[in-house]
Amino acid sequence: MSNAIAGKTIVITGASSGIGEATALHLARRGARLCLVARRADELARVQTEIRALRAEAWIYPTDLSKSGEVEACADALLAEHPRIDVLVNNAGRSIRRPVRESLDRIHDFERTMDLNYFAAVRLTLRLLPGMLERRSGQIVNVSSMSTLMPTPRFAAYVASKSALEGFSRTLAAELVGSGVQVSVVNFPLVKTAMTAPTAVYRYLPQMDVDDAAEWIVRAIDKRPYRVANRLGEAWNAATALLPGPTVHWTGRLFQVVGKRLQQRAERDARPAE
Ligand SMILES: NC(=O)c1ccc[n+]([C@@H]2O[C@H](COP(=O)([O-])OP(=O)(O)OC[C@H]3O[C@@H](n4cnc5c(N)ncnc54)[C@H](OP(=O)(O)O)[C@@H]3O)[C@@H](O)[C@H]2O)c1
Repeated sequence: MSNAIAGKTIVITGASSGIGEATALHLARRGARLCLVARRADELARVQTEIRALRAEAWIYPTDLSKSGEVEACADALLAEHPRIDVLVNNAGRSIRRPVRESLDRIHDFERTMDLNYFAAVRLTLRLLPGMLERRSGQIVNVSSMSTLMPTPRFAAYVASKSALEGFSRTLAAELVGSGVQVSVVNFPLVKTAMTAPTAVYRYLPQMDVDDAAEWIVRAIDKRPYRVANRLGEAWNAATALLPGPTVHWTGRLFQVVGKRLQQRAERDARPAE
């Protein structure tokens, strides 16, 4: 059992389903104490029961993280009940897939993704960081996406919010050098969860298994690298930094061609058989 995980108190947001739920269970198996945050109390209670069946400890904090007052109340409860919080995993998130040209009257798309993907993570970080700094020990793990490493059409609201989170993470990581507190960012590719299920064309693309995704977060906590990503994401990120013009242009073209083909295939498959 890893020393970096056993006995540690770890807060995971978005723990009622998908990557957050799987991560909570993987960490429980390694002896962590879990504080589970999300809106659906019944789903959190289900995950808590599963964790207890593994003989690990878990507490639940039903919270709508897009509401600033609820985030503050959640942080108050966490700090009151757990004198030592070792790791905060900011995983709760929402995605919106819509081209900007179809979002002209939808500023709320941009506000909602920022509220949850960026401001909620920052709010919780600001509240849990002082205890970590006092103890000279702790970690903030921010869950992001491979879409921030490459030009990703149709996801402006989502990518902007995750990019804000990454900008915050990078600055914070640099400020915290030598403090004993680390920051990690996890850039997931497509993962098969409730988030990707409604998008028909994703059926034809490779999707990471949720248990493999959980192990990326476990690795982030165990080894504390700044970034966990795959080679494709890292290569695209390097290409975008070195040759931004051509990379944006050709990635845009690639998405147009592949996106059109996948859409046609999804429409064909959705037609009733004659
Ligand atoms: N799936 C992918 O392909 C993929 C790829 C890259 C990055 N990611 C990132 O991975 C993270 C987890 O996503 P997932 O795929 O596991 O999706 P998911 O199954 O839909 O899980 C999202 C989690 O966030 C919680 N959540 C949503 N709105 C919330 C709110 N207002 N307040 C509190 N909690 C809220 C949900 O719980 P409640 O509904 O109970 O609140 C749920 O537990 C997200 O940050 C996402 O952006 C996912």
